[in-house]
Amino acid sequence: MAVNHGLGDRIIKVNHAGEHGAISIYTGQIMMARLTAPGLVSELIEFRSHETRHRTLFGAELARRGRPRCRSYWLCGAGGFVLGAMTGLLGANAIAATTVAVEGVVLRHLESQLSALRGNDPGATSAISAIVAEERQHHDDSARRIGAGTFWPKVLTPIVSGATEAVIWLGMRL
Ligand SMILES: [Fe+2]
Ligand SMILES: [Fe+2]
Repeated sequence: MAVNHGLGDRIIKVNHAGEHGAISIYTGQIMMARLTAPGLVSELIEFRSHETRHRTLFGAELARRGRPRCRSYWLCGAGGFVLGAMTGLLGANAIAATTVAVEGVVLRHLESQLSALRGNDPGATSAISAIVAEERQHHDDSARRIGAGTFWPKVLTPIVSGATEAVIWLGMRL
């Protein structure tokens, strides 16, 4: 069987760093939401607990492969925290818009990762498959929370989507 472990290794390390970024976004948002959107805090804590499980899953797959974490790992953590804190300060609509933008990009990448790896990398495929439903839940629950015609989603969506794409692009090349 043709095995392209290079691609699977890179995908797993980028996803591992991405989950660290997601945890950090939620940590920043939870801190600020206590002031700006207290009604969202328990949901954000639940989402973060999923991301912690995802990071553990990709971390274990990375260890199984004997690969080090991505060099973008700490960048994802710091950048994620700043993004989370800033959007958290802006309140409930900005928080939801950020999640929708990030998860929209993430879901597209997960789908294309699965189609690139399916059949030649069962370890990577099963780790990725295991998280898709929760990422979709984060996306869909947050999308329902965004008020129609509100300001922050329009401003934040292109910025946050672009930043997420850039981090994934960079991580795949590091
Ligand atoms: Fe995740
Ligand atoms: Fe997520």
